[in-house]
Amino acid sequence: MLYSRIIGTGAYFPEKILTNADLMKMVDTDDKWIVERTGIHTRHISAKNEATSEMAYEAAKEALDMAGVKASEIDGIIFPTITPDYILPCAAAVLGGRLGISGPFAFDLNMACTGFICALNIADAFIKNGQCKTILIATGERLSTVTNYSDRATCILFGDAAGAAVVRADTKHGIRSCSIYADGSYGDLLYMHGMGSTYLANRDTMNLDDEMIVMKGNDVFKLAVRAMSDTAAETLEKSGLKSDDIDFVVPHQANIRIVEAVAKRLEVGMDRVIINLDRRGNCSAPTIPTALDEGIRSGKVKFGDNILMAAFGGGMNWGAAVLTL
Ligand code: ACO
Repeated sequence: MLYSRIIGTGAYFPEKILTNADLMKMVDTDDKWIVERTGIHTRHISAKNEATSEMAYEAAKEALDMAGVKASEIDGIIFPTITPDYILPCAAAVLGGRLGISGPFAFDLNMACTGFICALNIADAFIKNGQCKTILIATGERLSTVTNYSDRATCILFGDAAGAAVVRADTKHGIRSCSIYADGSYGDLLYMHGMGSTYLANRDTMNLDDEMIVMKGNDVFKLAVRAMSDTAAETLEKSGLKSDDIDFVVPHQANIRIVEAVAKRLEVGMDRVIINLDRRGNCSAPTIPTALDEGIRSGKVKFGDNILMAAFGGGMNWGAAVLTL
């Protein structure tokens, strides 16, 4: 039987750190509110000329090193991002150029925070149908370039990061089950129209704020808790594992209260949840692979552990994956 496994991970965070104290100088907010309502203390901000693909290159190098895989062995690159360097060429192709490879397919994936789980699902399918042996999932986001730093309800949340994972065909169990869903009727709850052709064609009459992320946080919050919990429970059942079999939950982390609600619903204690939101903020698609990487490199998460991932993001879309590392 052919399976697909994550055999290496990597993470990159830009040097500059934006603290809650810094934000208090920019908008009407305070450290206590941010920590109590979101769980975030600091987030990273990319340098002016630090491209998304450049950050992803650093994470990808780490993941390839951990996996013991050469760039020339990659059969394809999937790059979840909503902040690519350019619309064209896509970030995956730019990254392939940086890695010095020519030939393997390379495409971007626009699923916001659910991007990594969707990429895992696609990689799993490509590997199981025999089309590929080794896939690099590399994700990077420069949310700071699309964050409205005069909107206190969103600017406190987002950070920049890149994360990567090498997924390879194996005879041992790896990815056990994945689910991804979307409902476009919720598109007005979280959007960023700025890079789209409709916005660009009507730029003269549109609201400049629409170039940035706009979010009805409270509505998104309620949907996120329900969708992440339901999908995680369903995907766990599909995997054949039980809640007690899961060593660690590695969730998307937009808000600690969402993560706590999902963990409670899954009957998993917070000691079994890998958190990096407190130091990194909500980084969109890189959140899950960076948290996993930090868990592995700290020695907490080990190869052989059973992992549950769940995410919710702009689209709206959501998903979950259960795998053995
Ligand atoms: N500091 C102080 N007060 C604030 C701040 C702030 N930074 N932000 C909002 N408030 C105020 C509001 O103005 C409001 O005041 P009012 O009652 O006088 O009107 C009050 O706090 C409560 O506002 P809510 O929006 O109800 O606050 P909530 O507790 O919901 O927290 C937050 C807001 C943090 C945005 C939360 O709703 C959230 O995390 N939502 C989910 C985000 C998410 O999951 N996004 C999806 C992934 S992101 C992606 O896909 C790119």
